[in-house]
Amino acid sequence: MCGIVGCVLKNRKVAPILLESIGKLEYRGYDSVGISTVDQNGIHLKKGSGKIKEVNEKIDLGELPGTTGIAHVRWATHGIPSTENSHPHTDNEGNISVVHNGIIENFSEIRESLEKEGYIFKSQTDTEIIPILIEKNMNKGLNLEDAVNESLKIIKGSYAIGVISKDNPNEIIGARNDSPLIIGVGDGDYFIASDATAIINHTKNVIYVDNGELVILNSEGVVVKDSKGNVVDKDIDVIDWDAEMAQKEGYDYFMLKEIHEQDSAIRDTLSEKDKIAEIISNLDGINRICFVACGTSFHASLTGKYLIESMSGISTDVILASEFKYSANTLDENTLVIFISQSGETADTLKALKVAKKTSKTLAIVNVLGSSATREADFVIYTRAGPEIGVAATKTYISQLVCIYMFAAILADNKELLNTLNEVPDYISEVLSKEDVIKDIASKYSDVNDFFFIGRGLSYPTALEGALKLKEITYIHGEGYAAGELKHGPLALIDDDVPVVVVLPPGDNYKKTVSNLEEVKARGAHVIVIGSCENDFIKTEVEDSFCINDKVKEIIAPLLYVIPLQLLSYYISVERGLDPDKPKNLAKCVTVE
Ligand code: F6R
Repeated sequence: MCGIVGCVLKNRKVAPILLESIGKLEYRGYDSVGISTVDQNGIHLKKGSGKIKEVNEKIDLGELPGTTGIAHVRWATHGIPSTENSHPHTDNEGNISVVHNGIIENFSEIRESLEKEGYIFKSQTDTEIIPILIEKNMNKGLNLEDAVNESLKIIKGSYAIGVISKDNPNEIIGARNDSPLIIGVGDGDYFIASDATAIINHTKNVIYVDNGELVILNSEGVVVKDSKGNVVDKDIDVIDWDAEMAQKEGYDYFMLKEIHEQDSAIRDTLSEKDKIAEIISNLDGINRICFVACGTSFHASLTGKYLIESMSGISTDVILASEFKYSANTLDENTLVIFISQSGETADTLKALKVAKKTSKTLAIVNVLGSSATREADFVIYTRAGPEIGVAATKTYISQLVCIYMFAAILADNKELLNTLNEVPDYISEVLSKEDVIKDIASKYSDVNDFFFIGRGLSYPTALEGALKLKEITYIHGEGYAAGELKHGPLALIDDDVPVVVVLPPGDNYKKTVSNLEEVKARGAHVIVIGSCENDFIKTEVEDSFCINDKVKEIIAPLLYVIPLQLLSYYISVERGLDPDKPKNLAKCVTVE
């Protein structure tokens, strides 16, 4: 799980540009960083473990000669974070330098055989076999392009790579298999990157590289070849978001900025309505729906089950992508499998998608344009949340929900619900205007060790999501429960050290959930109500509440009620002196199973 960038520039020093660009990919990994450039004197390299800022302060990464180079941010998979394990990696003679995102599954056997031939390895990474294989092939007389091609033939696994060589000081070779890679086409400057965020300051013209393709960038331009070496005619797409959208815009953290962007994320995502209607018109014969996703996207999927089953009566399952294989044999041609993924690159989800395609129609709901899931699925709906930099999903979750709501409403021909969705952005602004209430609650509870989140029906996935956000960015134990299930075990854990957040929209489930609230209150719990406060017991007995407009009915509550929960976790995280954008051990895009 890493980010890569490469640039061939017309007449500027490349290292400062690489440093700036790789900084935009720090959300993909932040345990090590490195830059390598090439000129007539050969390969130059600086790298180290730590966040980019720390490493740069020590070794001045932008101070390297040359106009061609590659850079990398790492999130360790093979070998601990260390200078030796940081990318770029070089061959034994220091003539070839490589950055890699992905995992090489057969690296141990390749390494063993190269070691027997006398090659020396300096790191524990899987990547280091790549420059050494290229070196071996170049020593046989192959040019750089052929040597890369030949090396990739024996590699199994996922990769997006950038390669430079002393022999070709104005050239980068890129290649991709199951890890994302794009090309940026500037005015005489050419780029490769894991995603467009890295290069958008320099160009908005991008080419999406497909699996098995090889990219040759040099001062003459860009050539893409397929696995047989034929030149491929690729389209250039123009990115429709700009550099400012990927910056913090005055917020302390990306997460807070992204929470505040949720009204516009919904407005933009609502523009997918016609596309969704068209997809649904192609789904004749579907009698079962199966959602597959991980983490926050799983919680969005669970909301989909409640909506679709209650409005259309179509049997709907929700399966964790990592557990999908145990249910795969229940799929048939009448099942629609819906994959939800903000990144479109989650390895578990992609694996399940490949399996599901064999029997069923597949639909991917994805935020990242051109990502792997969008190429695999039969149908694609884009969430229009824009780039999300904070590791914890916020605006992408809301946008996923909006797509699911539109899908469920169109499927059930529920025009009233479709119209109501247009009102949600205004309610969101109302919720956000009371942010200080949550901030005060957060400061009161920032020292506790355990939280419970409870909700019924459509509010149950919201409770699960509230608990996940809390765990991720505050490192406090949080547990989401169906409110009615509490008395079947977890009630034993409730006492006055455990705050219980109750997700309480007005509607059919209100009274029963208030009873559950009373149960935990009677055991001494501190209760925090998120929802309708129009109840005497809540007005008099509950110490903390975030009241939401009663016009927000239960059916659309998931689109609003999660926001105070996101803010609660955000402010607790900040109160505890943590960085909510970069939770420990987690990364934005999980490309390992
Ligand atoms: C939590 C979070 C993760 C992701 C999960 C799936 O805030 O972001 O739980 O939801 O890793 O990622 P995607 O949606 O990219 O497939």
